[in-house]
Amino acid sequence: MLDEIHTALLAWYHEHQRLLPWRETRDPYLIWVSEVILQQTRVVQGLDYYYRFVERFPSVDRLAEADIDDVLSLWQGLGYYSRARNMHKAARKVVSELGGVFPSDYDTLLSLPGVGDYTAAAVSSFAANAPHAAVDGNLLRVISRLTASEIPIDTPQGKRFVKHYVEELIALGKSAEVNQSLMELGALCCMPREARCNECPLANNCAVAGTGHELSLPQKSRKTAVKSRYMLYLLVESSEGKLWIKRREGKDIWHSLYEFPLYESSEPIDPKRVGEVVERVWGSHTAGSLTGEFRSYVHRLTHRVLYITVLKAKIKEGKSPFKGFIEVRKEEIANYGMPIILTKAMEELL
Ligand code: ADE
Repeated sequence: MLDEIHTALLAWYHEHQRLLPWRETRDPYLIWVSEVILQQTRVVQGLDYYYRFVERFPSVDRLAEADIDDVLSLWQGLGYYSRARNMHKAARKVVSELGGVFPSDYDTLLSLPGVGDYTAAAVSSFAANAPHAAVDGNLLRVISRLTASEIPIDTPQGKRFVKHYVEELIALGKSAEVNQSLMELGALCCMPREARCNECPLANNCAVAGTGHELSLPQKSRKTAVKSRYMLYLLVESSEGKLWIKRREGKDIWHSLYEFPLYESSEPIDPKRVGEVVERVWGSHTAGSLTGEFRSYVHRLTHRVLYITVLKAKIKEGKSPFKGFIEVRKEEIANYGMPIILTKAMEELL
């Protein structure tokens, strides 16, 4: 049965795979870049980021010598900026400790900042055919359905089960193609909310195809608790066309990106009382400079929902009410990596 699955899967893949640039290379650096990007976004959006990234940083030493702000500004919009910071650190480590040769073996990959089991397995498999299963959400779903496994995929047992199953397939040969084809099957055929079993090469060997229960798998043990954060930003423009920004610090989202003056609360901020909040936090002079224009956004992350309001204020030149902030001319703001939502607010409000 595994033999049949292996054969049918690879035959389907050869016919149906999408042509993607990271499948045309065996350079572990390029594959690593693609995998980190694809952990953040879907293939279609990821392509743009990938092309821009490898054009700017075509090799690991070019990434290592780059300024972190350039890396972060290319990453803008992908979110989870710690991934970009870790890539930069990893590149520096490859240059300083590995002679500038990006590794393709699983254990060395695992020693790099930000590289966990998934990335080490994916890069070593795609670049060197190493026999590791790159278990992402696609593989968890495809294998859970194929085997009718009810082991929750958000548990170590669930992940181990899938990893083990895929490694048995890989033992029959062609690690890279086995991993890629399962990902592709998950993306094109055995999808989260739609299972196209009539197009699936594995339907004959699948425990759920045709039962009507295809979409009840995979199972999860828990719903993740989602916490809300309420963020009030002041987009303050001076009469000379300058804006105030500051680099974020601390272990939190958007670490080391730039942002406007911020008030944050774990409670919703009543829109009618925004003026009072601004006065309390930044003083009456600032509250008096609010223009009444604002934009609100909702930003959903895995465990958080951010409710973000950006208020526009215009102040005359004079003493800055914002300690620790820098003044930047509007035209130069693009040189500073900022969360994409704030970039959008600027486009809409300025
Ligand atoms: N998702 C994660 N890695 C991928 C890859 N190499 N190809 C397509 N989709 C992916």
